Amino acid sequence: MAGLVSTTGVGDDIRHRFPIFENRVYLNSCSQGALAVSVRSAYDAYLDSLETEGSQWGRWVGQAERVRAAFAEVLHAHPDTVAVTTSASAGVNAVASALDFSKRDTVVTTSLEFPTIGQIWHAQERRGAKVIHVSAEPDNVLSLDRLAGAIDDRTAIVSVTQVCYRNGSRLDIEAIARIAHERGAPLLVDVYQAAGAVPVDVRASEVDFVVGGALKYLLGSPGVGYLYANPTTTGHLVPTVTGWFADEDINAMEIGRYRPARNARRFEAGTPPIPPIYAAIAGVELMLEIGIDRTAEHVGRLNDWLVDEVIAMGGVVATPNDPSLRGPLVAVRAADAERLVQRLADRRIVTSARDGNLRISPHCYNRAADIEQVLSALHANRDLLVS
Ligand SMILES: Cc1ncc(COP(=O)(O)O)c(C=O)c1O
Repeated sequence: MAGLVSTTGVGDDIRHRFPIFENRVYLNSCSQGALAVSVRSAYDAYLDSLETEGSQWGRWVGQAERVRAAFAEVLHAHPDTVAVTTSASAGVNAVASALDFSKRDTVVTTSLEFPTIGQIWHAQERRGAKVIHVSAEPDNVLSLDRLAGAIDDRTAIVSVTQVCYRNGSRLDIEAIARIAHERGAPLLVDVYQAAGAVPVDVRASEVDFVVGGALKYLLGSPGVGYLYANPTTTGHLVPTVTGWFADEDINAMEIGRYRPARNARRFEAGTPPIPPIYAAIAGVELMLEIGIDRTAEHVGRLNDWLVDEVIAMGGVVATPNDPSLRGPLVAVRAADAERLVQRLADRRIVTSARDGNLRISPHCYNRAADIEQVLSALHANRDLLVS
């Protein structure tokens, strides 16, 4: 097997901060990022303060602002344009509730979406929406011409994922934003499978909404997510899915009116998820310290090598062949993906399966030796690969 000569060295530098590598080759960041020592300490800090001081609302609200600032830095956005949510779904639901489907009634989305996205848009059929799914091509690349053909002056919103959770296909968000805007439609992007391992820059891509969460490449926890809302293009949209943390003044405790914040906080709802917020601050700040651009370069090199070697051994990669159309996740076609995951687990290698594919998702903490181990495990289990 040809060796990988050089990575950016990220993996070796920071590996010791993730104890799971003492026991496992962890390659499943597309499901959940590895637990960092500092993230575990953050959960402890929450519990310690609860035990020693009890309810600390002032501090907790401050923590919500700190995680907002951290998410904003990941997205290259101003904190006022970011809502702290409890999931990506919560963000999309709040956006959906603000749309009026009486004039523009179609939602254009793709076959590459996470189920929650399709389900939320189909739920809007009760409010008059019609959902159009544009299918990816057989190689899992989304044709921009076909997408453009589905967007017109009936389109209320275009909703796409940046990276597909099933096969790692990555979309050209800047081009899609241009196509949507030329036709007068806003664009919502689900960056869950990208943020942390792929640069996301809301200024450069000129998107209208972005949603995601903390538990994968941002090294945080389930239970907390974010919604970016472009103030210039979405400022007129007011959600009807709401709660007291969306109020213009959360201390007003007013039951006689609905007066949401003018900034992106208007898309929030009830009590913020404080324990996951503690964990997310530690995870996201660690990721920012490690560097997302540097990580993207490192992961890209590991994945280029992985893809070449899988093809060389006669395997089939479901992720598009063009590196610019790949996210941090590489999907390998398997005859029995669940069994293959188990066979790798028997060798203490952690991966996952979706849609008949084995998912291998390196991150900042992985190094060439991890890829070497997964490749030799695939060699040994070639009977379970599609060739
Ligand atoms: C692309 C993508 N979107 C959304 C989600 C999850 O969304 P939520 O935070 O609503 O559970 C996932 C989780 O795996 C995902 O991969």
